[in-house]
Amino acid sequence: MDGSERAATGETLDPADWSELRAQAHGMLDGMLDYVEQIRARPVWQPIPAAVRARFRSDLPTQATELATVYREFTENILPYTTGNVHPGFMGWVHGGGSVVGMLAEMLAGGLNANLGGRDHVPIEVERQIVAWARQMFGFPAGASGLFVTGTSMANFIAVIVARTAALGITVRASGLAASGKRLTAYASAAAHGCIRQAMDLSGLGSDMLRMIATDGRHRMDLDALRDAIATDRRAGLTPFIVIGTAGTVGIGAVDDLAGLATLCRREQLWFHVDGAYGALAVLAPDLAPSVHGIQEADSIAFDFHKWGQVPYDAGFVLIRDSNLHRAAFASQTAYLRRETRGLAAGSPWPCDYGPDLSRGFRALKTWFTIKVYGAQRLGAVISRTCAVARYLEGRVRAEPRLELLAPAQLNIVCFRYRCPDANAINAAIVADLHESGIAAPSTTMINGQVVIRAAIVNHRTQPCDIDAMLEATLRFGDAASTKTREGGSATTKTEAPSR
Ligand SMILES: Cc1ncc(COP(=O)(O)O)c(C=O)c1O
Repeated sequence: MDGSERAATGETLDPADWSELRAQAHGMLDGMLDYVEQIRARPVWQPIPAAVRARFRSDLPTQATELATVYREFTENILPYTTGNVHPGFMGWVHGGGSVVGMLAEMLAGGLNANLGGRDHVPIEVERQIVAWARQMFGFPAGASGLFVTGTSMANFIAVIVARTAALGITVRASGLAASGKRLTAYASAAAHGCIRQAMDLSGLGSDMLRMIATDGRHRMDLDALRDAIATDRRAGLTPFIVIGTAGTVGIGAVDDLAGLATLCRREQLWFHVDGAYGALAVLAPDLAPSVHGIQEADSIAFDFHKWGQVPYDAGFVLIRDSNLHRAAFASQTAYLRRETRGLAAGSPWPCDYGPDLSRGFRALKTWFTIKVYGAQRLGAVISRTCAVARYLEGRVRAEPRLELLAPAQLNIVCFRYRCPDANAINAAIVADLHESGIAAPSTTMINGQVVIRAAIVNHRTQPCDIDAMLEATLRFGDAASTKTREGGSATTKTEAPSR
């Protein structure tokens, strides 16, 4: 077939028979609603059978396959083997549970196929609406700007770039760091997330220029140690430029003294950034908001709607107090992105002026639906309830002599372990047993050189009965593993799974 013959076929990717497609689509929607409605009956997670994994090593499909066939493959080989964070028994790392409202909005966004890099269309107004709501949540001024990104890792990176541009001037974008003749230093607590170090690395400032400041007994950045580190760097001819406070550390959910950091930054004339990946949204819960007091004074905040906000992945966000600085750090002129005062190319500044992405999806829609349908008050109540469930877990751990509490619930994270000789190996094995049993999925972390079981209650579905199931299995696996080690076996071998 030559070019003009091919053009004349009129062939597109739309279905030949819309009614057949419609029936299939309704079935798929019902399938996902069933999945979420009945999620509690499923294992939280299950190991991927070798045969299933092998199905994803096939050659490039050159020929068409019926949608119904591909959907069946999805239900058989993808749906049962996900991370499990929709499940109420998922308590690992910091994963949000999502919601059916967010899921439906994702479908609508997929239909619109909007590109939110720029131009004049309402999807960008929806994103601007979320920027305005974020300003309102955090008490930021009208001149503040914001941007959806993949997650807080990217949001922190963007904030570091803006702070760098503020410190060195916009010329640094063309001339590079070396031309400035300055070496910038950053400060975060020893409990800060690894993406802060990565932001320093990726921005060319160097991860060695990040000072990891010691923490106090509550895992919060020690302000005296911070002051000393800044003074030492200044004496050495370095240029301190940013302090990064954390609202909800990834390890145990500690919140730095944000008001104290704000005052210190003002006095030292440093950029004050808050990594509030999940903790920032505590501002929505009246009982928790005081714990993040001071966040309203930040120069920038990074956080995720996909964690405590329960918006489906991904929906990271960065809020910058000074939109002019924000734009100065990223905007650039190109002929093919010329701005007009009318027509589709109007509406400048565009989101691409505030970050490195030009093609951007419609993350704002699922966030807009979530906030409108549930309301900020109800989302705040969900956040507050996850902390209450964490306190329930803490109470149960305190009451059980076979368990030891390593970190009480400052927000929604509790770290504990099963008491026994060889506790590091046995607690790691207990967590793997919990995963493989499908009963619960906490994660592990290290506290003072000890492997601990870490439960982060982020999912709005998690109930006290899920905590009970996790603890009952923890004790059962722990008892079995320590009996086995006493008898000379290995703690890391799989123990018999109780049924859920
Ligand atoms: C405190 C903190 N910062 C940053 C991140 C990274 O966020 P994301 O995974 O959305 O990039 C996390 C993730 O859990 C976190 O807890």
